[in-house]
Amino acid sequence: MPSWLPISSKQDHHMLALALETSCDETAAAVVRDGREILSNLIASQIDLHAAYGGVVPELASRRHLEVINPLVEEALKTAGVGKEQLEGVVVTRGPGLVGALLVGVSFAKAYAYARQIPLVGVHHIEGHILAIQLERQVEYPFLAVAISGGHTHLFRVDGIGRYRLLGRTIDDAAGEAFDKVAKMLGLPYPGGPIVDRLASGSDDGGIVFPRPMLKKDNLDFSFSGMKTAVLNHLQKIPAGLDQAQIAQVCNAFQTAVVDVVSRKALRAAEAEGLSRLVVAGGVACNSGLRRRFAELSVSEGLEVHFPSSQLCADNAAMLAVAGDYYLSQGGRAKLDLNAVSSWPLEQAAGFSVG
Ligand code: KG4
Ligand code: ZN
Repeated sequence: MPSWLPISSKQDHHMLALALETSCDETAAAVVRDGREILSNLIASQIDLHAAYGGVVPELASRRHLEVINPLVEEALKTAGVGKEQLEGVVVTRGPGLVGALLVGVSFAKAYAYARQIPLVGVHHIEGHILAIQLERQVEYPFLAVAISGGHTHLFRVDGIGRYRLLGRTIDDAAGEAFDKVAKMLGLPYPGGPIVDRLASGSDDGGIVFPRPMLKKDNLDFSFSGMKTAVLNHLQKIPAGLDQAQIAQVCNAFQTAVVDVVSRKALRAAEAEGLSRLVVAGGVACNSGLRRRFAELSVSEGLEVHFPSSQLCADNAAMLAVAGDYYLSQGGRAKLDLNAVSSWPLEQAAGFSVG
């Protein structure tokens, strides 16, 4: 029996679920019906808290999650027009992410499910991102998933919920991490990705060409650390510092290099797997250059490319309910010793986690 198969496939009862996400710097709570219909999807961002430090401070993130989670859940229920007693299941991000931050969500979810005597499942954060699209339109399996966020730049073949095969991944930084680090080098505030995107959109590359690492390698892996160093080297050549127009040009050249590498490797993976359907998901999937490039490819290569809307690309809780509802409906049940896991390869997540 493949490891992703649920404990029991006898039941098929979809449900009204509370979903919780606290893996990084956003506390998120959602109420979702049948893993399809979003009744509420609230996000309490911590950007203000971490901005002064130029990045996420794990200890501060945990503390803020703890302060915010209870009122946020109350608000999510109110917005959804749902009473606590109507909830039939709880879904929570089990990992990967900051362990202290994850623990807040996992502990809260366990207590909540126990108090209400309703079932609980833990879901992989990236599984949530990849399946978020199903909340907006039904995308058939199999498809190629490009999971691109602050912690991941991974290519998966997806044959169904819980059925993921890793095809390629970054060997160092994730694309989002590289966006944020380059932004920092340029003196732009945290989180840098959206700002680099905005500046890039209003500029050309000024003739700057950054390397496209791993493109010549005959595999489906990525590397972004070299690209980041290339940006640093470029900046060091201009000791007087860059003016606004030059900063925007660096943003444009860097973004173009990332988009180039990601789109070309995704195309290669799709060809190798004989897939013409693609889902691009995760925070960096908000990037306008990436969206434009994949839209062009869908026409030139005859591909079906799906991007969730920006709200569902960024971290949110509703995205977890797609897999969560499925696992719950199939009899998946986490025990009360469910633990958070900071590092957890999706292909080892074995569908849902019960312990
Ligand atoms: O999925 P996400 O919200 O959190 C993680 O799971 O990591 O992704 C956050 C990442 C950050 O690195 C952020 O800078 C990046 O996504 N990001 C973007 C854009 N919007 C968010 N990167 C490039 N362009 C954007 N428009
Ligand atoms: Zn994420």
